[in-house]
Amino acid sequence: MIASDVAYAKINLSLDVISKRPDGYHDIRTIMQSIGLCDEITVECTPGTGIRADCGLPYIPDDDRNIAVKAAMEFYKHTGIGGYRTQIRINKKIPVCAGLGGGSADGACVIRMLDKMFETNLGMGELETIGGTVGSDVPFCICGGTSLAEGRGEVLTALAPLPQCHIVICKPSLSNSTPELFRRIRCEKIRIRPDTEGMIKALDNADLKGVARLLYNVFEDVSMRGKRYIADIKYTMIDKGALGAAMTGSGPTVFGLFDDEEKAKAVYERLKTNFKDCFMTKTEGCIG
Ligand code: C5P
Repeated sequence: MIASDVAYAKINLSLDVISKRPDGYHDIRTIMQSIGLCDEITVECTPGTGIRADCGLPYIPDDDRNIAVKAAMEFYKHTGIGGYRTQIRINKKIPVCAGLGGGSADGACVIRMLDKMFETNLGMGELETIGGTVGSDVPFCICGGTSLAEGRGEVLTALAPLPQCHIVICKPSLSNSTPELFRRIRCEKIRIRPDTEGMIKALDNADLKGVARLLYNVFEDVSMRGKRYIADIKYTMIDKGALGAAMTGSGPTVFGLFDDEEKAKAVYERLKTNFKDCFMTKTEGCIG
């Protein structure tokens, strides 16, 4: 059996870290949005054993340290299906360690694909439960679209979609460690928090400008490498016509929302001269 599909990246339109939990994770409140930037995934199941994920990149492991392999393992564990050698090939286009949820998207895509290939028809809720055992952002990536994610990230509420717009993505060439940023953030000392309710209302009203005005990520206030690049990219985006700009997830990628394609293209072309990981994309809706 062989199948192919795409795994969409996400951006965090807002991200708030509420408190540290006894299990070491943090309770968060974040509005996530799928975007068109995607990895291409092929899964091949043949009789035998062993699960491998080949990304063709030397710095991405092909064994159970790879989130796509973990996802397949969890799917098989949950369903009791066994006896298949599983070869996952990933054409990586989403930058890694970027705050764009690339690994989580790959994991979610593998779970969705195996559900289809083995005709297990588990339904979104059960697929999200499997995803939750793989990583905090995986449940959102199962269905994608626009959602409020709470708890560790696995408690999802579907929201009105972000109105169609042009999105410029720019990643400075350095990587942030998500666990490290969570370790550094002091929830009781966060001075500015996103207006999550305001953003939900703006989404309900299909008010793109209202959403763009409220983009905010509490991690931007935590000291991290490359902070200056992040500020510079945001400044360039806003100065050249973005309705709003923010860092996504644990960064360091910055995104800007535009209602004018020409302005978005001009910013993309300009940033591209300094940063190799630049993309122009659009919003993606919920799968299924
Ligand atoms: O769930 P995931 O494997 O993506 O999380 C990576 C790390 O990020 C966790 O080990 C934890 O240190 C941190 N994290 C957290 N609170 C969350 C999500 C992630 O502290 N809600």
